[in-house]
Amino acid sequence: MKCLFLLSGENIRLAKEEVLSLLVPKKHKVVNNLLILETEDINLADRLAYTKKTFQLLFETNKEKIIEDIKRFEWQSIYKENFCVRIHKLCDAQKGGGGGREGGKNRLNTNLATGWDRGVGTSEKQLADHIWDKLKSPKVNLTNPKTSIEFFITKDKIYAAKLIKELKHSFESRKAHKRPELHPTALNPKLARALINLAGAQKEVMDPFCGAGGILIEAGLIKLKPIGYDLYKDMVKRSKINLDHYKIRPYKLINQDALKIKAKYNYIVSDLPYGLNTSIWVKKGNENKKLSLKQKDKKQRIKNIEEFYLKFLKILKKILKKKAVIIFPNYVNYKSLIKKANLKIEKEFSQFIHGSLTRKIVVLK
Ligand SMILES: C[S@@+](CC[C@H](N)C(=O)[O-])C[C@H]1O[C@@H](n2cnc3c(N)ncnc32)[C@H](O)[C@@H]1O
Repeated sequence: MKCLFLLSGENIRLAKEEVLSLLVPKKHKVVNNLLILETEDINLADRLAYTKKTFQLLFETNKEKIIEDIKRFEWQSIYKENFCVRIHKLCDAQKGGGGGREGGKNRLNTNLATGWDRGVGTSEKQLADHIWDKLKSPKVNLTNPKTSIEFFITKDKIYAAKLIKELKHSFESRKAHKRPELHPTALNPKLARALINLAGAQKEVMDPFCGAGGILIEAGLIKLKPIGYDLYKDMVKRSKINLDHYKIRPYKLINQDALKIKAKYNYIVSDLPYGLNTSIWVKKGNENKKLSLKQKDKKQRIKNIEEFYLKFLKILKKILKKKAVIIFPNYVNYKSLIKKANLKIEKEFSQFIHGSLTRKIVVLK
């Protein structure tokens, strides 16, 4: 089926790659904040974090041909119970609109049912009248339509689509402070979910530094088996409480140093320890020593973290079967560490957190 994805404007590139990693289409195109592709399994799209709505693409047209194409289309074949027509005008990315820029605001404008669209040269009511004429016993429902027909107006083209699903996730309600157990540097659940999708994870996900289980919860909620390791017993306990709270079953939690993991996993997704309240293990001579990141000497601190990350990346190289998505803090030379560990960067993204921290999200294989 030809599908159209309305991407969230927060980070268009991340949103696009999330869909592509999960659905792996042969071809795709991006127009403003629309992603168009062909897929067999649209149900997988339900787990996407940065997609707002999914659609079946009905046809592409332009301002000159829209009425003619509406009259030609077999509306009865996609119609169920009642319908509604919506027109969305998508701004041009170059003019600071919806597409292209990371972090840009989604500039999708939606008309009301009787509105004039400022672009297509006709109103929702007029388009709906033409569709009405093609249906056997049409009914209109403007508030809760079973058949939502939406027209996306871009600079050169108009896309006619039927809504499949509005993806309403409850990420807000799962933010770290709303879970029973907290981790001071826990990821936003929306980002945690996107990382899992960027890995294209199926069946299970392993997080070697699981903390209070932020990534594991999102994996469990999309029916993947979460497997988490943490060096600290207390963290493993917190993960357990959180996973039980969201009724996630089955899961596996292991109180173990990530640098000693031997089991192999298809998909590994993790936010490395780098926060001020976390400790890491580094090699001192022939021994591993626990080290607090609260140290004052910044240069030495970064050197220690890099040493620790390299050790972890070498383990990752041994235990990774398919794909890993790892978050690094921007102040480490992650590219050189990844190269030294003989891993390959497939994609990478940046997420600005505050003046002294940008997260580097790296897809590895
Ligand atoms: C950035 S936090 C993970 C946060 C988690 N992603 C969440 O959203 O709750 C990193 C975790 O790594 C753990 N950790 C530090 N060194 C470790 C090691 N050598 N092996 C396993 N876990 C370790 C810390 O206890 C901490 O819970």
